[in-house]
Amino acid sequence: MSSPVSSPALFRPAERTKNYNYAIRNIVAAAKAVEAAGQPVTYLNIGDPALYGFQPPESLLEALARAVRDGHNGYAPSVGTLAAREAVVRDAEARGVYLSLEDVVISSGASEAADMLLSALLEPGDDVLTPCPTYPLYTAITAKLGARENYYRLDPTQGWTPDPDEIRARITSRTRAIVIINPNNPCGSVYDARLLMELLTIAEAHQLVVIADEVYCRLTYGPPPPPIAQLAAGMEVPVVTLESLSKSHLVPGWRVGWMTYANTQRFGDVIAAARKIAEARICSPLPTQQALPAALADQSHLPALVEAMRARASVTVEALNATPGINCVAPQAAFYVMGQVEDLKGQTDEGFVLELLRATGVLFVHGSGFGLNPRDGYFRIVFLPPPDTLREVCGRLASFVRQWQAHV
Ligand SMILES: Cc1ncc(COP(=O)(O)O)c(C=O)c1O
Repeated sequence: MSSPVSSPALFRPAERTKNYNYAIRNIVAAAKAVEAAGQPVTYLNIGDPALYGFQPPESLLEALARAVRDGHNGYAPSVGTLAAREAVVRDAEARGVYLSLEDVVISSGASEAADMLLSALLEPGDDVLTPCPTYPLYTAITAKLGARENYYRLDPTQGWTPDPDEIRARITSRTRAIVIINPNNPCGSVYDARLLMELLTIAEAHQLVVIADEVYCRLTYGPPPPPIAQLAAGMEVPVVTLESLSKSHLVPGWRVGWMTYANTQRFGDVIAAARKIAEARICSPLPTQQALPAALADQSHLPALVEAMRARASVTVEALNATPGINCVAPQAAFYVMGQVEDLKGQTDEGFVLELLRATGVLFVHGSGFGLNPRDGYFRIVFLPPPDTLREVCGRLASFVRQWQAHV
């Protein structure tokens, strides 16, 4: 059999894929190479609770099994079933956000909703205010669309929150939207109502669409922040909220998420365009949509889940901050923390992460995979494994840092 790599490539990939990166998964190839060489790898790169033994609520599994058995195996309406949309409307209402059924689109995870919305909104050359560090979905989609991210900085000295003045200064004639990820991935920060109001006021003044990624809104260790759409009530700024069951209900593989529209007065044409995109991709999976009402009706698993996250956060933060040469800001939600190696010894953050992988079998994701400067030494840890594993991983990190700083 001839090898496809031995002959010069005849078919060229489209230019738009050049900057289409998703470091969280791209880095797995390096880990697989380490495994192939005989070294086991502890994967702390991806936020998938199912990989670490977290199980979805039993009632949810039953609802899905029932849906399949009862014959809900066909296509769904493109915007989602009535029952699923009603469930989203009820859930939003319980959190002070008043929507109509037309304001809801069920999607294959929040990811697909972001893709549909940005595809409906952006022209090539437009820009989107995007937090830095960011969840890299947004930069990947804007790159694909020929648009670009317009990074605003999250400041670690302010608990990884943004500075509204900096955001104001970054707005260009091509800025169309601002992405607000709250609670935040990769930092685990939670913005308060005052900051959110300031961001909304900026967006309203500059006619920007607010993309409120609230995928982690049920996973805060303390009281949840108000939904951005609730704060925006009565304003003129369109708010598109993205959510899913992936993290809060421990079913990322089910690909069930949704977007909701608030303050739609002058946003109807974009909604219509997003609807055309939704129709062309047919629908998101019907069986998991059928389970959505059950998921949102019974969320009694959440307190124990949040407590498990909080305990893991505390073990990880304590171990990192006790390690000479490493620091981190304690997260307030979800299951990610951004660590920093203070002296990179002239390396890049990716070089550090790859060296760590090869020496210890521990896989993190470098901060530059989230848009940070590669010389700033950041890395993201997913702290989903049991606390003992996390202590052991941090121990391996500490001895690696000791040796690496002495010898590099
Ligand atoms: C901030 C954020 N937004 C969106 C997503 C996408 O989630 P999903 O498509 O599984 O709903 C993730 C997944 O990790 C995320 O961290």
